[in-house]
Amino acid sequence: MTATNKRVLVAAAAKARQRAVAPYSRFKVGAALLSKSGEITTGANVESASFGLTCCAERVALFSALAGGKSDFVAMAVVARAPGGPMPCGACRQLLAEFAPRAVVWVADSRAPRVIRQFAVRELLPRAFLRVPQKQAEGL
Ligand code: THU
Repeated sequence: MTATNKRVLVAAAAKARQRAVAPYSRFKVGAALLSKSGEITTGANVESASFGLTCCAERVALFSALAGGKSDFVAMAVVARAPGGPMPCGACRQLLAEFAPRAVVWVADSRAPRVIRQFAVRELLPRAFLRVPQKQAEGL
């Protein structure tokens, strides 16, 4: 993964962020998921008047990619107006552990998109709950 690709994925997340539907929190988040094949799938958070139905940008991107037949995710970028970049919530970490266990997560503040912090999904949610053995899950 070159530095350029990292910036490209962060830029895709920043662009997706503009499509966030966040009238209640006003906290806009964009995510971009990179498959091994090089394909990028994006997502943004979508909020509901029934607040609990809100879906994070990370999950929107992940579900969109999975429903589109994509797999073998190598990286996800997440961008929001947050110091140091937004850290994925616990629910999204669970989904990443299930469907993108070998991926890295790049986070950036939308005001400083060139400052990118990197985390491994494995370190964000160690000992995740999995219905199938990790090796099998990684083959998804
Ligand atoms: N949100 C995300 O999209 N990703 C995260 O990792 C944390 C939170 C969204 C959900 C909600 O629309 C807003 O940010 C405020 O919590």
